[in-house]
Amino acid sequence: MPDGTGMMGRAMRIFITGTAGFIGFHLARRLIADGHEVFGYDGLTPYYDPELKKDRLALLEATGRYRGRIAMLEDKAALADAIGECRPEIVVHLAAQAGVRYSLDNPQAYIDSNIVGTFNLLEIVRAAPPRHLLIASTSSVYGDAERTPFAETDRCDFPISIYAATKKSCEAISHSYAHLFDVPTTCFRFFTVYGPWGRPDMALFKFVRAIRKGEPIDVYGEGKMRRDFTYIDDLVEGLARLLAVPPEKGKPLEAPGVEDSLSPVAPWRVVNIGGGNPAGLMDFIAAVEQALGRKAEKNMLPRQMGDVVETFASPALLRALTGFAPSTDLAVGVKAFVDWYTERYADG
Ligand SMILES: NC(=O)c1ccc[n+]([C@@H]2O[C@H](COP(=O)([O-])OP(=O)(O)OC[C@H]3O[C@@H](n4cnc5c(N)ncnc54)[C@H](O)[C@@H]3O)[C@@H](O)[C@H]2O)c1
Repeated sequence: MPDGTGMMGRAMRIFITGTAGFIGFHLARRLIADGHEVFGYDGLTPYYDPELKKDRLALLEATGRYRGRIAMLEDKAALADAIGECRPEIVVHLAAQAGVRYSLDNPQAYIDSNIVGTFNLLEIVRAAPPRHLLIASTSSVYGDAERTPFAETDRCDFPISIYAATKKSCEAISHSYAHLFDVPTTCFRFFTVYGPWGRPDMALFKFVRAIRKGEPIDVYGEGKMRRDFTYIDDLVEGLARLLAVPPEKGKPLEAPGVEDSLSPVAPWRVVNIGGGNPAGLMDFIAAVEQALGRKAEKNMLPRQMGDVVETFASPALLRALTGFAPSTDLAVGVKAFVDWYTERYADG
């Protein structure tokens, strides 16, 4: 069973896009600690506070074992140059314009970063395919699916936000490259990831900031939405293990009761990384209140366009491939975030 130390347990050259971002930072830190050579790439976009991104990068640089490039995915020459310098065995593509709500008013950013950016990366790696290409997708591709839990083989052709539509496009485009150029590719669908060094545009960060300031929090969907919250350390563990399991064309996983999403015509599969344990928004807020020792003043609002009602992962495929599935208790994960936030933003 893979143990996260890499294919055959040896150090590898790993190229990661989005290393100044929440997930890329944590993954890079973990892989460096595991002894791998990590080369990062990030454009430090101003979608949220670039100082937070720079501080994450500073921590990576402080390891003395991180190399990186500040440039945009749209700059194909810079991307090609960075990949050429790294000569990666593994590529993990996390850089993207994230966020459902921002995509309602800023669709162009999603076309540029997610579709053009991913296309540029695929064009570059096709010349010298890595042993495994891993690409971030999202639970949002399931849209307002009624059947739960969401399995990778479920139909997800009805995205309800531009963000989801661009991520679904990346899945499809990467499949064609996997087929045409024999690039072993895994797309992973993340489910509301949270934890220390998290994103300021996400609910947990906004809730903690507002409650600490004594300001009301905006609770969308009248608090009835449910999310399969995934703690960052669990996500990173799942990713680290998946690195070592590249899909092989014509060799689907054989495990009782698990349907592999392996393509019938390419070394390509899609994997959920979620625990299959969704929580209601009000329970999530209660965990935040508990961790802060303060009650929130709640501003109940209708569901926003683009937001899905529920996300609920089936972790069966991830577990069968890696022997692992996320399980960190919400109260424990929220407390870890609150501890980090309180230390970093001691004065507000
Ligand atoms: N955090 C979640 O809950 C979640 C859920 C589902 C999917 N995802 C996906 O996981 C990936 C990582 O998300 P995150 O939460 O770390 O987001 P993030 O915004 O913290 O990180 C993304 C990083 O990519 C960089 N970037 C964006 N566009 C770029 C471009 N065009 N060129 C170069 N760099 C660019 C940004 O500067 C940022 O540092 C994304 O692909 C996101 O869509 C995240």
